[in-house]
Amino acid sequence: MTKNLKIRFIPILLKKNAALTQDGLVLDPNNSKIKQILSLKMPMSLQIDTLFADRQPQVADFEFNDQVADVFADMIQRSVPGYQTILQGIGDIAKRVVTAHSRVYDLGCSLGAASLSVQRQVTVSPYQIIAIDNSTAMLQQARCHLNRFKSSFDVELRHEDIIESTLNEASLVILNFTLQFLKPEARATLIQKIYHSLQPGGALIISEKLCFESPQIQSLLDDMHIDFKRAQGYSELEISQKRQAIEHVMRPDTLATHQQRLQAAGFTQQHTWFQCMNFISLVAIK
Ligand SMILES: C[S@@+](CC[C@H](N)C(=O)[O-])C[C@H]1O[C@@H](n2cnc3c(N)ncnc32)[C@H](O)[C@@H]1O
Repeated sequence: MTKNLKIRFIPILLKKNAALTQDGLVLDPNNSKIKQILSLKMPMSLQIDTLFADRQPQVADFEFNDQVADVFADMIQRSVPGYQTILQGIGDIAKRVVTAHSRVYDLGCSLGAASLSVQRQVTVSPYQIIAIDNSTAMLQQARCHLNRFKSSFDVELRHEDIIESTLNEASLVILNFTLQFLKPEARATLIQKIYHSLQPGGALIISEKLCFESPQIQSLLDDMHIDFKRAQGYSELEISQKRQAIEHVMRPDTLATHQQRLQAAGFTQQHTWFQCMNFISLVAIK
């Protein structure tokens, strides 16, 4: 039996904290049989996230570096409730709005998971997908990840700061959990730039973690999210160290802030098409 075939048998070993997904594996890191199989030979992007498993004397601010890129597929899957549903939905929206001879921009693409979903579902031809990230580590992993899913055409990967990127002739722009990592003062200008880059009828998809005006709602949804992470196999130490690492780097907005920003940019039609706990995805149409 080849090593690849052995990987296909992982579902048999999965317990309640693990599941096999379309683009990656969500695994119970405490399952020794799974660890054993994974140690045989696993593409870097399928490694289990144990970055915060050991106590760190001082927790550094979170960065999209090599260590994070290696485990990112597992990390995002086990941290964002509904992540796979959102990816699927991005493809579903794409097949309805992407037009021939237009461009799709995947801004803050990480491993290119949203681009892959678009590629799988859009049937018009030709069109172009441009996936942009400012992390070299992420883009290296994205290239490996995209090569594993061969298709009729390439996703163009660009190493750029999306604040500086030139966008035009777009039928779809995707910000899948990226906006929250930008400086708050840069967000409105980016949304305006996106609006101007879109063709009439084109769409912007924004997925984000939300924050809430009401302390009660904030605390309720935070607690539910922490339970979700426990159920994915993260320990209390991992949850608390990750939280410390990310709190100065990821600054979520309220739903009202997103809605007002979209409206101010010129979008007259917008709606929440997905929400699970404090995670949301919005679609705005020009
Ligand atoms: C949470 S990840 C996005 C996940 C990804 N969109 C997906 O669907 O799996 C955020 C990404 O945004 C990138 N990023 C953050 N700020 C950026 C910027 N100013 N320009 C380009 N990329 C940026 C990070 O390097 C990281 O890869």
